[in-house]
Amino acid sequence: PERPVVMGIESSCDETGVGIVRWVGDGTLELMADAVASSVDEHARFGGVVPEIASRAHLEAMGPTMRRALDEAGIEKPDAVCVTIGPGLAGALLVGVAAAKAYAAAWNVPFFAINHLAGHVAVDTLEHGPMPPCVALLVSGGHTHLLHVEHLGKPIVELGTTVDDAAGEAFDKVARLLGLGYPGGPEVDRLARQGDPTAVVFPRGMTGPRDARHDFSFSGLKTAVARFVEAKERAGEPVPVADVAAGFQEAVADVLTMKAVRAAQDLGVDTLVLGGGATANSRLRELAEERCAAAGITLRVPRPKLCTDNGVMIASLGAHLIAAGAQPSSLGAATDPGLSV
Ligand code: KG4
Ligand code: ZN
Repeated sequence: PERPVVMGIESSCDETGVGIVRWVGDGTLELMADAVASSVDEHARFGGVVPEIASRAHLEAMGPTMRRALDEAGIEKPDAVCVTIGPGLAGALLVGVAAAKAYAAAWNVPFFAINHLAGHVAVDTLEHGPMPPCVALLVSGGHTHLLHVEHLGKPIVELGTTVDDAAGEAFDKVARLLGLGYPGGPEVDRLARQGDPTAVVFPRGMTGPRDARHDFSFSGLKTAVARFVEAKERAGEPVPVADVAAGFQEAVADVLTMKAVRAAQDLGVDTLVLGGGATANSRLRELAEERCAAAGITLRVPRPKLCTDNGVMIASLGAHLIAAGAQPSSLGAATDPGLSV
């Protein structure tokens, strides 16, 4: 059809998502359904996503989430089924891919294997329309990537990634050090508002002249926070938790936005797109706005519900690929937990 209805299934981490979009032409999409079930609460007491728990939760949630999405969109079946093929947790990916293949075969519609990372970028077109050439910064519990996107129908180039922890993961680990709950990002964000970001200054990883220009490192920062907290406790002094949270958050936001703006300038593009759950961070957003405005770069940030993992992002990229003439994937396509863009 001229305006195909595309379904996306996502199960790479702890969110089971089924999203449905309609291609309305000229790089523009319309949202028809966004059903998500999360197992985040089941992982909380472990302080991180437990793969076995995630897989089981996907298995239980897939049917009901699919039903909800179809009802919400008011359709019996889509024109194409897309699914996250990687990167992600091996067992979790298998559940979504098996479901997608089964639905595509039963409905007799084409099947498309989709890269999760590229999906985080494509979802922005739902809100902000056609995507110009851009740099994308993806930050979540599982990823920290700088990407160069020329066109959503074409391969995306990875400029850099983290050499150790993901940005959101660093938030989760520091939150644990400070005795806060999981996921730690929102808690650190809240606490940081009561602190002074200049009271304790933490190191900015991978920002030296000889460091890879577009890569990130957050494990040194996490260790610095741990050392600081230990030293205070050893000295019997109270830990200034709000100042530590603010200083840590400032370091992360500083490095992420500095490198993202620099990448856009290096590549000569005037648009920066943010994606991933950690883009909810208030200081990251503030600093990104400030620095993009100063550099004459247009900043595009999808609304929070679209930034976290969901099926809509997979459907969105699928719709752009289909419009660009991509051929369907084989029903024999295998999951790829370590897939890069
Ligand atoms: O995209 P997402 O929901 O799941 C994946 O990891 O794929 O992202 C969750 C991550 C967690 O690490 C969480 O701590 C972080 O995003 N996060 C935040 C904030 N809200 C969520 N990090 C910093 N500040 C926030 N406000
Ligand atoms: Zn993600």
